[in-house]
Amino acid sequence: MTESTVDAMDGAMESPVDGAVNVAKDVAKDGARGDRCAAEAPRSRVRSYVVRAGRVGQGQQRALAGLGPRFVLPWPATSIDLDAAFGRHAPRIVEIGFGMGDATATVAAAMPGYDFLGLEVHEAGVGALLRRIGEAGLPNVRIVRHDAVEVFERLLAPGSLAGVHLWFPDPWPKKRHHKRRLVQPPFVRLLASRLAPGGYLHCATDWQPYAEQMLEVLAEEPLLRNRAAGYAPRPAWRPLTKFERRGLALGHDVWDLVFTRRF
Ligand SMILES: C[S@@+](CC[C@H](N)C(=O)[O-])C[C@H]1O[C@@H](n2cnc3c(N)ncnc32)[C@H](O)[C@@H]1O
Repeated sequence: MTESTVDAMDGAMESPVDGAVNVAKDVAKDGARGDRCAAEAPRSRVRSYVVRAGRVGQGQQRALAGLGPRFVLPWPATSIDLDAAFGRHAPRIVEIGFGMGDATATVAAAMPGYDFLGLEVHEAGVGALLRRIGEAGLPNVRIVRHDAVEVFERLLAPGSLAGVHLWFPDPWPKKRHHKRRLVQPPFVRLLASRLAPGGYLHCATDWQPYAEQMLEVLAEEPLLRNRAAGYAPRPAWRPLTKFERRGLALGHDVWDLVFTRRF
């Protein structure tokens, strides 16, 4: 068994989310799921997610078939002309791991002058956001269904983004899974390099140890400057996300962090 297979099995045995909701509860549940995840796991890098089959509802399937060709950008992409994909040149904000896309759609509707590129790996979430795009008639959202790390490496140009939203990334609470967390120095350096000067990186989490890691890693990135003295107040425009509501219902606190790219 290779190390990456071990990693994949490791991740398959525990949801990054359930672990945070109830640390005490081990969730080694589903042998079939473990097999599938191992088969689908990429070989060369520790990933921040585990691919699960998840049920795709009928409405989501309809949205994937009907709206996917227009709003989901092709991947793998050697190059995508994002201005052409959005049909205009506007300040661009990327959301990493939008989940079911409820917050994405709310923000995109409230900020029609900005374009939003949502990155998510799970098909049901992509279908759910497509549904919202269709219902609300949102012209300023596009989706890439792929690993955000590779999208940042291969698709997004240095200095090109007005903002990045990383709201409630999987907390991976167990120590042996911390390597799967997205907020680590190399990825934060990559994110910062894709921001335009003055552009912002907005993170939020309901998992205190991860909030502390975020604060430490972001503060140590030379390209970034903290807009607050420590954690930031939640900006009024940031909607509650689905995952956040779940955390709040469990009595969790929430920490926001807003950093800007230095000029
Ligand atoms: C804990 S959920 C939060 C979802 C949403 N932001 C919310 O607050 O409701 C984290 C999401 O990030 C996605 N994700 C994790 N790693 C990712 C990656 N490398 N690229 C794209 N999406 C990722 C997962 O599939 C999952 O839907």
